[in-house]
Amino acid sequence: MRKPMIAGNWKLHKTLEESSSLVAELIPAVADNQNVDIVVAPVYTALGKVAETINGSNIKLAAQNCYPEPQGAFTGEVSPPLLKDVGCQYVIIGHSERRQLFGESDEQVNSKAHALAEANLGIILCIGETLEERETDQMFDVLRRQIRLGLKKLSAEQMAGVVIAYEPVWAIGTGKTASDEQAQEAHAFIRALVTELYDEQTGNATRILYGGSVKPGNVDSLMSQPDVDGALVGGASLKSEDFARIVNFQPIA
Ligand code: 13P
Repeated sequence: MRKPMIAGNWKLHKTLEESSSLVAELIPAVADNQNVDIVVAPVYTALGKVAETINGSNIKLAAQNCYPEPQGAFTGEVSPPLLKDVGCQYVIIGHSERRQLFGESDEQVNSKAHALAEANLGIILCIGETLEERETDQMFDVLRRQIRLGLKKLSAEQMAGVVIAYEPVWAIGTGKTASDEQAQEAHAFIRALVTELYDEQTGNATRILYGGSVKPGNVDSLMSQPDVDGALVGGASLKSEDFARIVNFQPIA
């Protein structure tokens, strides 16, 4: 009942030409897949070009960040209505790179969530613990805090537009994937928390993606875990062949 989502976060990679070639290769490779929500998140400057290239395909567009105000004197920022205008259906917020490198707080993430809900855009909220937090038994507290504060005052109705991405920081770009059991444990905890904060139906309906070194070789078993509803893919989303294989994952019976 939860439609899987496979999203590619391209981070700070690819020129206009490279971006449109990547999706042009991807389109035929995933065209037959109607069972998965397929999302790509290029850099801001490539959004328009990628939107044109994927027009009419089953690939959806996301941005990697946004500013929480719709317009105004905010030099260098981009707002949810403008992201919608360029063709985005989703926006990633709270990525660990933004939290760590740009000092983004849970409060800022929460104002972005409200601005996106207001603009009727889908939200991909990233959460995840560092290695130190995991090793000092703070993992569940960290996930609880990131979810409680990140989703603060979002209604159950607005939660229909929220996808949560569990990305343990120690697994991002390191080649170290969480084991299937580690992913399932965290996802089950997150779902139980969403149920506690909202209700059973919201908990059951909310999609929870895993992110952190997802590759063609580990996606099948990750996607076979009952609470893993998709993947947020970094490095492997930059190669059409790898990303297509991830999109066309084969759950293990
Ligand atoms: P990698 O897949 O490169 O580990 O990156 C994960 C990620 O941060 C996706 O948002």
